[in-house]
Parts: sequence; structure tokens; C-alpha cells
Amino acid sequence: MSTPRSTKTPSESLVTMTELVLPNDTNTLNNLMGGRLMHWMDIVSAIAAQKHSNRIVVTASVDNVSFSKPIQLGNVVQLKAKVTRAFNSSMEVYIQVEAEDIPSGKKFASNSAFFTFVAVDQTGRPIDIPQVKPETEEEIRLFEGALRRRQLRLVLAGRMKPEQANELKSIFDPSHYLNTGK
Ligand SMILES: CC(C)(COP(=O)(O)OP(=O)(O)OC[C@H]1O[C@@H](n2cnc3c(N)ncnc32)[C@H](O)[C@@H]1OP(=O)(O)O)[C@@H](O)C(=O)NCCC(=O)NCCS
Repeated sequence: MSTPRSTKTPSESLVTMTELVLPNDTNTLNNLMGGRLMHWMDIVSAIAAQKHSNRIVVTASVDNVSFSKPIQLGNVVQLKAKVTRAFNSSMEVYIQVEAEDIPSGKKFASNSAFFTFVAVDQTGRPIDIPQVKPETEEEIRLFEGALRRRQLRLVLAGRMKPEQANELKSIFDPSHYLNTGK
């Protein structure tokens, strides 16, 4: 008989990282380059995934990331990441990015994203990880949506047939809206 997997809460994997936008991080308009922000997002979310799994982790996929408002030279960027749900060896991490202009006191939410990490052993082979036990309303909402997002990214990566993505298909079923009211 296999032993039951342990559980961890999202707050146990929470990581906050603060960065200052310096000249070498910007484009010729003095705005933070998207690639630099994605690098920071990869680091903060990898640390969250490591905290959840206590394992070496690799980035398996990055969901759609869009940048709506530029972050400027001299702004302070705060990134927060936590694991929303774990599957077998993979886990989804939610990252929220906020920028602040300290002299004016202005703060704004820049963007958010979901990254997926896989925990691996020393030889790079995927390994099972603890499950997630969400606590707050937001964590429960993220946990519930994670299965749908996993199916979408596996279909897009060619790792799942669209007809197997039952959770994803259900949102296109009119009865879903009648039953949930959402
Ligand atoms: C991610 C990786 C370890 C998966 O290895 P694999 O041999 O394909 O293993 P599996 O098919 O058993 O998949 C393992 C897990 O990864 C998940 N996975 C694989 N590709 C994925 C993708 N594109 N998106 C989301 N999850 C993915 C699987 O769903 C599975 O999850 P589960 O164990 O929770 O069910 C392997 O593809 C790898 O090492 N990729 C390179 C990672 C890397 O170097 N990242 C940095 C980019 S430079």
C-alpha cells in the first residue's frame, strides 16, 4: 500500500522578492524590459516551488504573460509567488507583480501569471510532491481553477488530446453556467 502524500498550505510556499529597476534593466524608453521581469518571475516562483516540494525544480511551462502598464526606471518591483495546486510531480505557481514609485507614493498592480514547475530528483527524473491544502477564499478559487489551466497548457503543449480535457470542456458546456451561475 502506498503511503498517503503529505499536504502543505499555499502560505508555506509564499515568497516575496523586491527589486529596484536600474538602468541595465531598462529599454531605451527607460522602462523595465519584459525579459528582465520574466527572469525575476521565474526566480521568485522557482523558490516558491522549492519551498513547497523541498526538491530541485525545473520550469515546465509559462502561461500567457501580458504587460499592460510600463514599470519605470527607479521603480521598486515587488513579486509575490505561492503554489496554488500540486498534481503528481508538477505544481502551479501564481505570481503577482506590483510596482511602486516611492517618491510619489504611487503603487500599481503590474501583472500576474501562472508558471508550472516539476520537482525532479538528482538525475532529473520527475518525483511526487506534497499536495496543496488551500485555506483562504482566494486560495480555494485558485486551487479549483488550476485543473482547468493544467489541461489547457497540456493541450497547448501537445501532451493531452483536447477530447481528454474534460474539466476544460465543461466550461463550454451551457449546463456548467446553469449549475454554477458563473
Ligand atoms: C519538465 C520535465 C521534467 C518533464 O519531464 P517528462 O519526462 O516529460 O516527464 P512526464 O511526462 O512524466 O511529466 C512530468 C510532469 O511534468 C508535467 N509537464 C510536462 N510538460 C509540461 C508542460 N509543458 N506544461 C505543464 N506541465 C508539464 C506533466 O504534466 C507531469 O505532471 P504530473 O507529474 O504532475 O502529472 C522535462 O520535460 C524537462 O526537464 N524539461 C526541461 C525543463 C527545463 O530545463 N526548464 C528550463 C527551461 S530552459
